[in-house]
Amino acid sequence: MLILSVESSCDETAVALVEDGRKVLADEIFSQVALHSLYGGVVPEIAARSHLEVVTLLADRALETAGRTRADIDAVACTYAPGLIGAVLVGVNFAKSAALALGVPLIPVHHIRGHIAANYLAYPALEPPFLCLAISGGNTMLVDVRGYTDMSVLGRTRDDAAGECFDKSARIMGLGYPGGKPLDDLSRQGDDRTYDLPRPAVHGDNPYDMSFSGLKTAVVNIVHHAEQTGQAPDRPGLAASLCRAVSETLVGRTMDAAAALGYENIAVAGGVAANSRIRADFEAACRREGRTLFVPPLRLCGDNAAMIGAQGYYEYLAGHTAGSDLNAYATMAL
Ligand code: KG4
Repeated sequence: MLILSVESSCDETAVALVEDGRKVLADEIFSQVALHSLYGGVVPEIAARSHLEVVTLLADRALETAGRTRADIDAVACTYAPGLIGAVLVGVNFAKSAALALGVPLIPVHHIRGHIAANYLAYPALEPPFLCLAISGGNTMLVDVRGYTDMSVLGRTRDDAAGECFDKSARIMGLGYPGGKPLDDLSRQGDDRTYDLPRPAVHGDNPYDMSFSGLKTAVVNIVHHAEQTGQAPDRPGLAASLCRAVSETLVGRTMDAAAALGYENIAVAGGVAANSRIRADFEAACRREGRTLFVPPLRLCGDNAAMIGAQGYYEYLAGHTAGSDLNAYATMAL
């Protein structure tokens, strides 16, 4: 089954062609980073207008890359939630029009389910059940993946997402937008014990919930204090200390959940899964505890449409298709 898939939830416009949920025939991405970097963050209306300009071109290019024609498309999948609403609307409307014109089913896909499904592309033998930590710019959640379309959130951030914490810390450190990758690069030159950053305690009865806003505030305070006293902060040391603090929180919660629920297979997904410290810490923890780790290659960690085509296939098999009245949503339970 050949699925044309569309992703437009934030600042990447992407269109892919995926066969039977596992084989990527084309994976086109247009990144809007250059458009937003001037403003230090994503400007929603600019994002939506840019999606509108390039989505059709990307779809044509995907068909060309795959050597296929419109007649070969069996279904159209799109991210319909969560995301910047104006941005998501563009992809949903394009997918609706394409499905209608081609006379094929329309498949709505939850963006985070898509991130989780990036692992099916990277690991053809991986099947649920497994535990997945989904970490992106807007979401941080620990997911109990019981089946391809049967999953529940075990814990989540109570405030900022891990990516948000990286991005906002990077901005105050003058590393630009999006700051996760430059912060990761800088951290490799620093000592992760330079600053004693907090490991946020979360009160309540869910041991898997997390919090990152306190960590971000601690970084802001260190930078401001240095500025006020005329000293330069140790930027590589701060980056390394932050990566360590975020990683210890994420890896700790995930390994605790795996032990409590008896999961042998652990997957990580989302843009923040590209972080070198988090990847290394997960590898070490899984080796130590005898669990198997699945992390997509960097190309499949960030937003892309191939992951939407992968999850779209399983949503289709589960009968989750939509009519022409499909809407887009800024928020949506998993
Ligand atoms: O999944 P994604 O591409 O978009 C969302 O769905 O949100 O994730 C983007 C996030 C941004 O916060 C970005 O700074 C972060 O992923 N990111 C990283 C790294 N690469 C991207 N964070 C830490 N280390 C990285 N190497």
